[in-house]
Amino acid sequence: MATDQTTVRFGIIGCAEIAIKLCKAISRAPNATLVAIGSRSMEKAVKFAGDNGLPEKVRVYGSYEEVLEDGEVDAVYMPLPTALHVKWAVMAAEKRKHVLLEKPVAMNVSEFDHILEACEANGVQFMDGTMWMHNPRTQKMKEVLSDAHRFGQLQLIHSCVAYNKGPEFLTHDIRVKPELDGLGALGDIGWYCIWAILWAFDYDLPTSVLALPGTVKNDGGVILSCGASLHWPDGKLATFHCSFLSFISFDVTALGTKGILRLHDFIVPFDENYGYGSFWEASQVDFGKSGDDKRWYPGANEHRVESVELQEVLMVGEFSRLVGAVKRGGKPEKSWGTLSRKTQLVMDAVKDSIERGYKTVEVITG
Ligand SMILES: *[C@@H]1O[C@H](CO)[C@@H](O)[C@H](O)[C@H]1NC(C)=O
Ligand SMILES: *[C@@H]1O[C@H](CO)[C@@H](O)[C@H](O)[C@H]1NC(C)=O
Repeated sequence: MATDQTTVRFGIIGCAEIAIKLCKAISRAPNATLVAIGSRSMEKAVKFAGDNGLPEKVRVYGSYEEVLEDGEVDAVYMPLPTALHVKWAVMAAEKRKHVLLEKPVAMNVSEFDHILEACEANGVQFMDGTMWMHNPRTQKMKEVLSDAHRFGQLQLIHSCVAYNKGPEFLTHDIRVKPELDGLGALGDIGWYCIWAILWAFDYDLPTSVLALPGTVKNDGGVILSCGASLHWPDGKLATFHCSFLSFISFDVTALGTKGILRLHDFIVPFDENYGYGSFWEASQVDFGKSGDDKRWYPGANEHRVESVELQEVLMVGEFSRLVGAVKRGGKPEKSWGTLSRKTQLVMDAVKDSIERGYKTVEVITG
């Protein structure tokens, strides 16, 4: 693709596994192209470029700084350990690079505020890497939740997200190292649960949060498994559980006064190759009246939502669209940063509740 005015030129810093997915997404997305990658060592960067068959034109650097110094790079994707986010995202913004940052966005909201301030001061776009938000299925589900006639009022949402990569992961992976990813499972996957809950509640923040007893931590104090309940003043409730110790689960269930919506693959769809994703919804159900009729009427409806592109490609496309608008003299779109911040705020409250021995923690806005 020609590197003209409409093309957003990406650099990637950090060669984590997820970067492979993003390399492909950047090459598939309209108006986006990869021009540079950087790792902590030249050796790692060269290996990453070779393993992933990156085109020759992609410049390969043995440091993160060099990517940020590269005058041709418009935007940087950062799949770095969470503890490094504030330093590198702020530096990227100061070098006038637009920032696509992996989640969780920071160790806490005060760190994240530094990132947002740097982006604002330098007029660059911010977005985090929560891909499922860009899946067209998400928009369709929102329409179902907003249908007061069929769904009624949202009362409760539960999300359970887990995966178990085994003993090697639990001892050696970056995601369980206190100095690199101190939020552990809460940051890596609890993030998704919290975002899904806020999304369902139209981003109305809960007033309080109470972590559930039974948090499992490793020797370094990193959370391997935890849960919490989130509370709203009118009795509305959400619960979630996130874990590195259980079998894979990407579940969301939303209960309304008249309907229910559920899906089991909200973060990574079961099979995007089909070009659609599903969710299930039921409303105003009755049971069979005769003894032999063991059915629900109507049964749960499977909603199939067509998707012309993979969600990560749609994410890069949306980010590039926003960056393109800034390149042509427009202002950065702030709403993505606001949503990331709300998620981080609730995550901080959950962590706080765990640390205070499962006390209720008020969610302080502002
Ligand atoms: C690519 O950018 C151009 C110029 O802004 C725009 O007109 C076009 O719609 C973009 N293409 C896509 C697929 O977003
Ligand atoms: C936020 O996290 C950083 C890094 O762990 C820590 O130094 C700082 O004290 C934390 N700030 C707050 C307000 O908790």
